[in-house]
Amino acid sequence: MGIYVWGTGCGASEFIEAGFDAEKISAFVDSRPMGETFLQRPVILPEELDVGDCELLVITARHVNEISVKCAQLGIAEEKLLFIKNNYGLKDRNEGCRNAEKLLGKELLERLLPENRIVRTPPALQRSALPKEEQLNDYVRLASLELICRRLENVPGAAAELGVYRGHFAKHINWLLPERRLYLFDSFEGFEAGAGAAESFQAAHRNTAADRVLSLMPNPGNVIMKPGFFPASLDGLEESFCLVSLDVDFYQASLEGLRYFWPRLSKGGYILLHDWANPTLPQVAAALGQYERELGEKIPSVPICDLNGTLVLTKA
Ligand SMILES: C[S@@+](CC[C@H](N)C(=O)[O-])C[C@H]1O[C@@H](n2cnc3c(N)ncnc32)[C@H](O)[C@@H]1O
Repeated sequence: MGIYVWGTGCGASEFIEAGFDAEKISAFVDSRPMGETFLQRPVILPEELDVGDCELLVITARHVNEISVKCAQLGIAEEKLLFIKNNYGLKDRNEGCRNAEKLLGKELLERLLPENRIVRTPPALQRSALPKEEQLNDYVRLASLELICRRLENVPGAAAELGVYRGHFAKHINWLLPERRLYLFDSFEGFEAGAGAAESFQAAHRNTAADRVLSLMPNPGNVIMKPGFFPASLDGLEESFCLVSLDVDFYQASLEGLRYFWPRLSKGGYILLHDWANPTLPQVAAALGQYERELGEKIPSVPICDLNGTLVLTKA
């Protein structure tokens, strides 16, 4: 029974460098082989792989979707597939892999699969546990949030979201920062009259309820619901913040959010300005421009390529 390795490039080298003895590899698999051998082992086409002999196929190439399809066509069971480029997807491709730990050992596996390559979705928020309409299908946004939260260890303050809607993003904040107070600001009845929302957009955003949002939170004991229109809903609140998600789509609410949260953001904290690069909601970037003029300086920031182009503002 053998161990096979898909790929003869840098990923394969990564596998060997992590500590696997190349001599133990039955063959390398490559759909466009450059030669008959690699590291003194035979290189075969996928179609030549002896499925009955294969106990583990370590996939070191990056085009994981195509390889998954090919393996299914060849009849290689999921439990035999280990993707070491298991990144950039909401699904953990190694969830079904049963043979890797047994054949490679725990230590080597930990070196091969560093944590930040997948979104660590808690069981309660896993896609299989939630109806489709309760899921936030944006890998880059969630993975960025996770990495950002890891930078907050020594940054004081609460977390907040202004513009919560159904709590799809808020529940991830609450899961990643379980010990922090999380303020959730939303009218829970859509946008303010005159904000600029089209009728259907308004109707869609009225389709939510504060109690339902609270029931989705993994750590509801730390959640403080702030229903009503912002900034009136602040009701004199004085806090400092380590992380704020600002996601209200239109000019005035975005500007009021920046005016309140930026001065109260702790050093080392972040404001995630969602939709900053969304061509259908240009008022978000306009509000930031206005706020920076009021401040008299540009706020240090980094754009991320999530679905709606979030701008991450940070305070040095
Ligand atoms: C795009 S949704 C938020 C989506 C949510 N952050 C997510 O990622 O799932 C925008 C929300 O902002 C809220 N909103 C907009 N202006 C507001 C204001 N002035 N006060 C309170 N809520 C507001 C709307 O009610 C709506 O639920």
